[in-house]
Amino acid sequence: MSILGDIKARFRREHVTLQLDDIQALILRARPEPYVGIHAMLHVTDAAGGRDLVRRMAEHVPSAAGWTDDRDAWMGVAISHAGLQALGVPEASLASFPLPFRQGMAARAAQLRDVGENAPEHWDDAFRPGTCHIALTIYARDAAALDAAVAQAMGELERSHGVTLVSTHAFGADADAKNPFGFRDSISQPAVADSGVAPMPGQERAIAAGEFILGENSETGAPLALPDPPELGRNGSFVVLRKYESRVGAFNDFVKRHAGSEEDQERFAARLFGRWRSGAPLILSPDRDDPALGADPARNNGFDFSEDPRGLACPHGAHMRRLNPRDSALTILTDVNIHRIIRRSSTFGPKWSRDVTAADDAKGERGIFFIFISARAYDTIEFFQQEWINRGNFIDLADERDPVVGLHETPGTFTIPDTPVRRRVDGVTTFNRLRGGEYLFMPSLTALRWIGAGRW
Ligand code: HEM
Repeated sequence: MSILGDIKARFRREHVTLQLDDIQALILRARPEPYVGIHAMLHVTDAAGGRDLVRRMAEHVPSAAGWTDDRDAWMGVAISHAGLQALGVPEASLASFPLPFRQGMAARAAQLRDVGENAPEHWDDAFRPGTCHIALTIYARDAAALDAAVAQAMGELERSHGVTLVSTHAFGADADAKNPFGFRDSISQPAVADSGVAPMPGQERAIAAGEFILGENSETGAPLALPDPPELGRNGSFVVLRKYESRVGAFNDFVKRHAGSEEDQERFAARLFGRWRSGAPLILSPDRDDPALGADPARNNGFDFSEDPRGLACPHGAHMRRLNPRDSALTILTDVNIHRIIRRSSTFGPKWSRDVTAADDAKGERGIFFIFISARAYDTIEFFQQEWINRGNFIDLADERDPVVGLHETPGTFTIPDTPVRRRVDGVTTFNRLRGGEYLFMPSLTALRWIGAGRW
C-alpha cells in the first residue's frame, strides 16, 4: 500500500482535536508517489497588490480537513519575514516573530555553517536576501493535475499587480520516489498527535502537535511563543527551504573507489544513508536490500537502534541515524523528540544511474529542494547544521561530518564500525552543495485571509 493509502486507512476522525479546517493541507498531507510539482518564488513591490493576491490565493489552498482523502493536487503558501513586511503587516506583528526568522536564512549563515562554497554570496538570485517574499508549492499526482493547478495559480498572479515572479522550479520523481542518488526518501515522518492517525504498532510514539502547529501544546507541555495577533500566529507553522545541487557523479565515483563489486558498492552506499535504495532500513535488513520491506509502510520505519549500540548494522555516522538517532546513546544529551521534522522534499533532474559521472555534475541539473515543517524549524535546522550534520562529537566521531549533506571544505572521513577494528573511509566531499534557501512562515487559512484583508 502507498504511504497515502496507508494513512487514509488508519485515519479516525473521532481522534482529531486539531483545527484541521484552518491548517494548510501541505503540513499534514504526505507527498504522493509518483509526484510532480513546482516551487514558485514571488516578490512583492506593492503592498496592496500583494495582499490582494494573498487573499485570492487563499481560496486555492486546501485545508487539512480531509488531509487523508484522495486529491489530485494541492498548493501551499509560505511567506518570508521580508515578505510580511512588503505586504504591510504592522511593525508590532513583525517584531513578534523569533529573531532567526526575522533575520532570514542568509543572515544566519554563521549559525547555519553556510560558509565556503555554501555561503550566501554564491546562491541563486531567487534566494538573495529580501528577494523571496512568497513561496508557492504545488504537489500533484500527475502532469495533468499539475498543469491545472499551475494554470489556476498563475492566472491569479497575472490578474494581480505589484507582484513579480522571481523563479519557478519543476520537480518530480517516479513511483519509487527515488531522489537524485537513487534512494527512496521521505519515508520516516513523525506521527502528529491529535491529527487522527495514530502510529502503527512498533513505530515511534506520536509527537505533540505543538512541535508542528503553533498554538498547540509542544513536547514541553506548553505551546511555543505565538506570533501576534493570535489570528496571525495560531495554526501556522514554520518552513525551512534549502535548495541543493546534487553531485551524483562525485558520489558514484566515491562509492566505486571504496567498494569493489556492484554488491559491495550497494552495501557501502546504503551505509552512508542508513537505508538501502528501496528504503529498507539496514537495521532490519543488514546484508542485502529488501524491496518488499522498503515498500511496506507497516514495517519500513518500525525500528530503533537498541539492538545495534555499536553501529555494526547501521553506522552511527549514516545520514539517517545522525538526523534521527532515535534511542541511540548520545555523548551530548539531546531530546530527540524536539528535533523531529515533517519533510516535504522534492527531487529535480534526470533519474539516477550508476553511470552518472563527475563530468555530468558540471551541468548542475540534479538536486533537491529540501523542505521541512516544524514550529521550531529555524532552531532545529541551526542545531542540525551545527551538531548533527557538521560535527561528530555527539556520536564520538570528533570532526566527522554527515556524508550526504555535510559541508566538506577539505575531504572528510566516514567511519564504519566493524570487528575487530573499525574502517575509516577517506575522501568524502560535498555531495550536496547549497544553492540558496529561506526561512518561511506557513500561515493558517485564517491568517492568509487576515493578511489579505489588511485591516490591522
Ligand atoms: C539534500 C540531500 C539529501 C538527501 C539526498 C537525503 C536523503 C535521505 C534519505 C535517503 C533518507 C532515508 C529515507 C527517509 O526516511 O526518508 C533521509 C532521511 C532523513 N533525512 Fe535526509 N537527505 C538530504 C538532506 C537532508 C537534510 C539537509 C536534512 C536535515 C537538515 C535531512 C534530514 C533527514 C531526516 C530527519 C531523515 C529521517 C531520519 C529518520 O527519521 O529516521 N536530510 N534523507
